[in-house]
Amino acid sequence: MIGMEFIILNLSNMKINSFKILTKNDIATEQLGYKFASKISPGNIITLNGDLGSGKTTFVKGVLKGLNYKHEVTSPTYTLINEYNADFKIIHIDCYREKDINRWLNIGLIDYLTRDNIIFIEWADYIKSILPENINNISFEILSQTQRLINCNE
Ligand SMILES: Nc1ncnc2c1ncn2[C@@H]1O[C@H](COP(=O)(O)OP(=O)(O)O)[C@@H](O)[C@H]1O
Ligand SMILES: [Mg+2]
Repeated sequence: MIGMEFIILNLSNMKINSFKILTKNDIATEQLGYKFASKISPGNIITLNGDLGSGKTTFVKGVLKGLNYKHEVTSPTYTLINEYNADFKIIHIDCYREKDINRWLNIGLIDYLTRDNIIFIEWADYIKSILPENINNISFEILSQTQRLINCNE
């Protein structure tokens, strides 16, 4: 029954820029990411905002599965930037531990943004001022220990 609510919702018409889904376990959040993967293409920048443990990294794990990445996906909390050669080049960034915009500029964040990558940025609010305007945001809200409200561009 895991992920059942995901199947019932039938996301085949899901647009990259608009959805609001309640997931009832981590697998459902991963499946949402898996489905989202079919909606994205190089050049997309997707910011992920929400408290610690709200499912941002879980979602990105699903995205990478959806893009046929077969290896381990880890949180970029300490590495700051993880790169994956999946069907597309995926750049997974986490700003939680580095809030200094100058440090991000020194690391070369802008180079990542201007390449033909697909970028996911956790805690992107910290570096909002250096991000382009045409980006998709997904917010993650913890409703209970196992429920997450995941909302794209509303
Ligand atoms: N519906 C859910 N969706 C995503 N994660 C969930 C859900 N319910 C419980 N969890 C748990 O919450 C945690 C989410 O962790 P993670 O994805 O790393 O969060 P974040 O990257 O937002 O800090 C995991 O331990 C996961 O098992
Ligand atoms: Mg995370």
